[in-house]
Amino acid sequence: MERIVILSGAGLSAESGLGTFRDAGGIWQKYDLEEVATPEGFARNPALVHQFYNARRANCAGAAPNAAHRALAELQQAAPDRVTLVTQNIDDLLERAGARDVIHMHGEVMRALCASCGHRWDVPMVMQPQDPCPACAQPDTRPDIVWFGEIPYHMEDIGAALSQADLFVAVGTSGAVYPAAGFVSEARAFGARTLELNLEPSETSRLFDTSRLGPASEIVPAWVAELLQRG
Ligand code: APR
Repeated sequence: MERIVILSGAGLSAESGLGTFRDAGGIWQKYDLEEVATPEGFARNPALVHQFYNARRANCAGAAPNAAHRALAELQQAAPDRVTLVTQNIDDLLERAGARDVIHMHGEVMRALCASCGHRWDVPMVMQPQDPCPACAQPDTRPDIVWFGEIPYHMEDIGAALSQADLFVAVGTSGAVYPAAGFVSEARAFGARTLELNLEPSETSRLFDTSRLGPASEIVPAWVAELLQRG
């Protein structure tokens, strides 16, 4: 099987009920991202930010992986050394579908980070300001999420995977936020073919060799089945 890098966005988890950011009724139409998804917002009002992520953590815990998560996990299991799963999503639905070593470039809502000592741990369902860090006891803990203005995680690993990719696939992402939105151009520059699987055309659709439109729970399993039949 060829080397495949798959980038996913909120559209992958939309049918699991987790909502997207920029669709009608999306998360950024209900909350001001400056208040809940920036370091400045956290410094101003940590209780509001913890409340926002406590609600998203509860949504995530109450959700189930959908057929698209399961299909990506099945593809990775069929060829673990050929399939790299990169996600902008902070939920753990790919892991709960059986995927491993998922690269969460925007962090994970089920993990916490100590801003004092850098310790990371699996988070209790509800986080409060002043929660002491289990390692250094400082009351300086935050969700382990990459906020706007911060550097996404694992960029070197992602760059290395893109440089080796034969095929780059984007699933359920609007192509609105960099650096993830630039991965398709990076992959093309390295000679990879590119495929977009999305409900509707995205901001970067024109950069993809092929686009397949439809709900992820339908078009992702169909695409994976084709790949696995080809071997
Ligand atoms: N199946 C497939 N795609 C879908 C579905 C679905 N059922 N529902 C929505 N989509 C598509 C939309 O058409 C859109 O292109 O998913 C995309 C969701 O786009 P966004 O809401 O912008 O989410 P995303 O691209 O993941 O945002 C990137 O922005 O706010 C930050 O950190 C946040 O990781 C997020 C990043």
